[in-house]
Amino acid sequence: MKINRNFDHLVENYLFADIASKTAAYIEANPDKKVIRLGIGDVTLPLPPVVVDALKKGADELGVKETFRGYPSYEGYAFVRRAIADYYGSFGVAVDADEIFISDGAKSDAGNIGDIFGTDNTVLVTDPVYPVYVDSNVMAGRRIVYAGAEEENGFCALPDDSVHADIIYLCSPNNPTGSAYSADELKQWVDYANRNDAVIIYDAAYEAFITDDSPRSIFAVPGARSCAIEIASLSKTAGFTGTRCGYTVIPRELSRDGHNINKLWYRRQATKFNGVSYPVQCAAAAVFSDEGLAQIRENLAYYKENARIISEAMDTLGIYYTGGKNSPYIWLRCPFGMGSWEFFDYLLTNAQVVGTPGEGFGACGKGYFRLTSFGDRDNTIEAVDRIKNLLKR
Ligand code: MLT
Repeated sequence: MKINRNFDHLVENYLFADIASKTAAYIEANPDKKVIRLGIGDVTLPLPPVVVDALKKGADELGVKETFRGYPSYEGYAFVRRAIADYYGSFGVAVDADEIFISDGAKSDAGNIGDIFGTDNTVLVTDPVYPVYVDSNVMAGRRIVYAGAEEENGFCALPDDSVHADIIYLCSPNNPTGSAYSADELKQWVDYANRNDAVIIYDAAYEAFITDDSPRSIFAVPGARSCAIEIASLSKTAGFTGTRCGYTVIPRELSRDGHNINKLWYRRQATKFNGVSYPVQCAAAAVFSDEGLAQIRENLAYYKENARIISEAMDTLGIYYTGGKNSPYIWLRCPFGMGSWEFFDYLLTNAQVVGTPGEGFGACGKGYFRLTSFGDRDNTIEAVDRIKNLLKR
C-alpha cells in the first residue's frame, strides 16, 4: 500500500501542536515557573449563561422519549440556520437559511471544503496565513501561490491580474495580522474572482471583533454571491472553542464548472458528516437570541480590553504592531531584530510568556510575532508587565 505522498510536502508539525509541545517541554524542565499562554487563540471566559441553559435544556430533551432526537440533518436544524440568517440581517446582509450549513467549526470546513474542487486548481493564499488553508491544500496536492501581506500594503494583499488563481482564501479580520479589508478592497477580490471564474473562500471567524465600518461578511460586497463561500465560527464569537460549532454560507446561485456549489457541499457533507449534536445546536441558536447577543458582547468587550492593554504596552515600548482593534490578535515586529522563533524562545525563557512566531504563518511572517487577547485579564496584565520589564531598554 501507499500513503498519500503529498504529506511529504507538509512541514513536520501543525504550528499550534508544535508550540504546545515546546511549551510542555519548557514546563517539564521548569516546574516552578508560571507560564502564561498568549499563543493559540483559545478563549478563557466561560460560555454565556443563556448558552449554558440552552445546552442543558437540549440535553434534557434527549433524555425524554417524546423529545428525543436521533441523527440531526446534515445541514443543521432549521431553527439555528434561521437564527444565523437573522444575525446576518442585523448587519444588513441578506442570506437565506437554506444557504447555511452548520458544522463543528470553521477549521473543519476550511480544511474540508477542498473536497469539492479539483486538485489541479491553483490556490492563492495571502502570506502570512492561517496554516489550515495551506496544509489542507498541500495534502490534496494543489499548487499554492502566495500574495504577500506586508507593512507596505497594510497587511491587506490585493489581487494581481498577472497571477492566476482558481481558489482564493481570504481571512478578514485577519489571522494572524489582525488587519481587516475595507469594502473597496474586498470588491477588488470579488471582481478578480468573477473575472477569473475563481471561488473565494472567505474566513469570517473574527467578524465579531470588527469595530469600524469594515464589512462583517463578504456578502456585504456586491458581486460576492456569484463567487464566494463564507466560513464562520462561534469559537471566538461566543466561546465555543471546546463546544465546537461553526457555519458555512454558500449562495444558492454559486456555480462553477457546470455544478451548483451549494448542492455539491450538501452532497459532501451528507457523505462524510453526520451533523452537530442537538444540544450544541440549541446552544448555538441561543447565541443569536437578544439575550445571547448581549452576553457575548460583554465577553467580546473583555477580550477587546485585553487587546488594548497589550497594544498600550507595545506603544510604551515603541514596538511596531498592527491588529488589536478589529481583531483579538496583536501582530508585532520582534524587538532587537530577532527572528520569530528566536523571540519565541527568548520570551518563554526570560518572561515565561508564550506567543506565536510569525514565521509559523509563512515567509512574510518572518521577524513578526503574534500575541492573543483571549487570555484571562490578570494573566494578560502579568504577561504584559513581564514583557515590559524584559524589553525596556
Ligand atoms: C489561532 O490561534 O490561530 C486559532 O485559535 C487557531 C484555530 O482557530 O484553529
